[in-house]
Amino acid sequence: MSPFRITRTLPEDTTDAALRADVLAGLTGTPKTLPPKWFYDARGSELFDEITGLPEYYPTRAEREILLARAGDIAAATGARTLVELGSGSSEKTRHLLDELTHLRGYVPVDVSESALTRAGRALVAERPGLDVHALIADFTAALTLPDMPGPRLVAFLGGTVGNLLPAERTAFLASVRSVLAPGDALLLGTDLVKDEGVLVRAYDDAAGVTAAFNKNVLTVINRELGADFDPAAFDHVARWDPQREWIEMRLRSRGAQTVKIPALELAVDFAAGEELRTEVSAKFRRDGVAAELSAAGLRPAHWWTDTEDRFALSLSVAR
Ligand code: AVJ
Repeated sequence: MSPFRITRTLPEDTTDAALRADVLAGLTGTPKTLPPKWFYDARGSELFDEITGLPEYYPTRAEREILLARAGDIAAATGARTLVELGSGSSEKTRHLLDELTHLRGYVPVDVSESALTRAGRALVAERPGLDVHALIADFTAALTLPDMPGPRLVAFLGGTVGNLLPAERTAFLASVRSVLAPGDALLLGTDLVKDEGVLVRAYDDAAGVTAAFNKNVLTVINRELGADFDPAAFDHVARWDPQREWIEMRLRSRGAQTVKIPALELAVDFAAGEELRTEVSAKFRRDGVAAELSAAGLRPAHWWTDTEDRFALSLSVAR
């Protein structure tokens, strides 16, 4: 069997320190905010998987449609020998790409979840003799260090997760991706597209309430990790479209005036009745905007593929 290696570039205790810092900064600022990365504990990842199957949540299906139609084109355009996948999770949607990349020798899944990496990595080396899998436990929003694997490299960042970064974070992220690429290496980027407001809001406020549970799960994470006493039932799920910034915001609205204690931070946080805590931004994109951001990062936009309903785009850009 071909090798499976796993490297931790994220010390175990940084997760805890980062959570504390984010919660302290986010809940003492005005307006209150939390970064979306803390949704994804085991329960949150399960709820997100459930979201991807909801009738209202189109991005996963739209992106899969594009990947199925274009994997051969992606292989031909890149000739990639190493595929690096940022936020690989279960590596589920990557399988098809792996099948089509005929020159592929190595796969580098990058994720913060060691359990997901181990499960996916072991399954892949068993299924694909000859594929060298080197998993990285890392936060892709921080500096990336990639293992020495053969070029050309293709970095894939799928699911529209780039939209969860704030504009300044996005600029820094694209620069950081560019910095690990050699000229000729490529970036495959999934971006959800601007569309009818009703369609967008329903995708983030589904009838079954799964997204509401996913949103409130961040409070459960803080309760568990920092000993806080959030009552998830004391907050309402809110999904709102911001037409100026062209992004969806998920928020948690305090149903009444309340004080939440966070012992690990020796902090008490007051919420006014109706006060909203922003938990996620999910930016939606247009072709021109994506091309401009890629160009500014030193990447040349080469291909733009959408699903048949023009809801989602995969773009391929090449490092200059
Ligand atoms: C992580 C980008 C796939 O922003 O659409 C789903 C997360 N949030 N429902 C998104 C999410 C609410 C999602 N992605």
